[in-house]
Amino acid sequence: MTDAALREALSRTLAGTNFASLGKRYEGKVRDTYTRDGTRLLIATDRISAFDRVLGTIPWKGQVLTQLAAYWFRQTTEVAPNHMIDVPDPCVMRVKDCAPFHVEFVVRGYATGNTSTSLWTHYARGERNYAGYKLPEGLKKHQHLEAPLVTPATKAPKGEHDVTTCRDDLVARRAIGAEEYDAIASMALSLFERGQAIARSRGLLLVDTKYEFGRTSDGTIVVIDEIHTPDSSRYWIESSYESRLAQGQDPEGLDKDYVRNFYLSLGYKGDGPPPAMTDEVRVEAAGRYIQAYERITNEVFVPNEEEPISRLERTLGA
Ligand SMILES: Nc1ncnc2c1ncn2[C@@H]1O[C@H](COP(=O)(O)OP(=O)(O)OP(=O)(O)O)[C@@H](O)[C@H]1O
Ligand SMILES: [Mg+2]
Repeated sequence: MTDAALREALSRTLAGTNFASLGKRYEGKVRDTYTRDGTRLLIATDRISAFDRVLGTIPWKGQVLTQLAAYWFRQTTEVAPNHMIDVPDPCVMRVKDCAPFHVEFVVRGYATGNTSTSLWTHYARGERNYAGYKLPEGLKKHQHLEAPLVTPATKAPKGEHDVTTCRDDLVARRAIGAEEYDAIASMALSLFERGQAIARSRGLLLVDTKYEFGRTSDGTIVVIDEIHTPDSSRYWIESSYESRLAQGQDPEGLDKDYVRNFYLSLGYKGDGPPPAMTDEVRVEAAGRYIQAYERITNEVFVPNEEEPISRLERTLGA
C-alpha cells in the first residue's frame, strides 16, 4: 500500500467502540471485548500501546492483528489448542471465553529489547540473573541465545507496568500450579519453535513473543488473546540481520520497536502522559504492520475501506 493511501486513512481509524447490546464490555489497551454466554468478541481497534500506555491509532492495525492472529492460530492448532471460534469481521475474532492465567508467557530467542523489562536492558546493566536463568558472559546486543528462554511476567493492572518474574516465584506465590506452569511453558516453547520455522521460511526471524493462556469451561488449557502478531512479537528481516550487526546497526524490525524507538528518542520511557505520535510515525508504523502481514501470510493485504463502526454494527448485529 502507498504512503499516500496510508496518510489518507489516518483520519478514519477505529479508536474505540461502545456496543451496549453485545455483552459485558471490557476495554483493553488494544482490544474492546464483549462477553456473553461463554463467548467473547475481541474487537481489535487501531489503538497502539507501548510502555503499557495507549499512544494513538495506526491505520489498518486492527485488521492486520486480527487476520494475522487468525492465520497463526490456524497454523498452530496441532501444536497447542487455542480459543478461536471464527472471524465475523475483518477486525473481530469470536473466541471461547476462558479463565485466564494472570501470567504472560514471554519466550525470547535473542538478547535484545530496550524497555525496562527487556533481557538486554538487564544484561547491559551487568545483571546475569534473569527470570530464574543464569545468562552467560560475553553476550552481544541482538545476539541469538543458545536456546529460547521462557521469561514469565505478571500481568499488571491497567496503567501499571508488567514485572518479569520466574517460575519458582510464581509457583511460591500460588499464581499458578507447578504442573500447570510446566505444561504451559512447554506448549509455549513448541509454539515458538513452529513460529520461528514458519517465519524463517518467509525470510523473517521471530525474535521473541508473548503468549497468554486460559482454561475453557471444560478445563482445557488453550492459547488466548493473540499469537505471533507484531504487537506481541518482535520480527527481524533475516537477510540484513548479520550485516547490520557487523556494522553496529540495529536489525530491521517489522514490529512495535519502531514506535518504541521513536518515543525513546524523545526521552519518553512510559512515565507520565506520552507525547503525540507524528503522522509520519503513524504512516511508517502502518507500513511495517502491513509488511509483516504480507510477508508472513505470503498474501497481499486487502484493507477493508468501509467505515468501521457501521460495518461492525452490521457484521456483529450490534
Ligand atoms: N479467550 C479469552 N478469554 C478471556 N479473556 C481473554 C481471551 N482472549 C483475550 N482475553 C483478554 O482480553 C483482553 C484483550 O485486550 P487487549 O489485548 O487490548 O488487552 P491488553 O491491554 O493487552 O491487556 P490487559 O487489558 O489485560 O492489560 C485481555 O485482557 C486478554 O487477557
Ligand atoms: Mg493483549
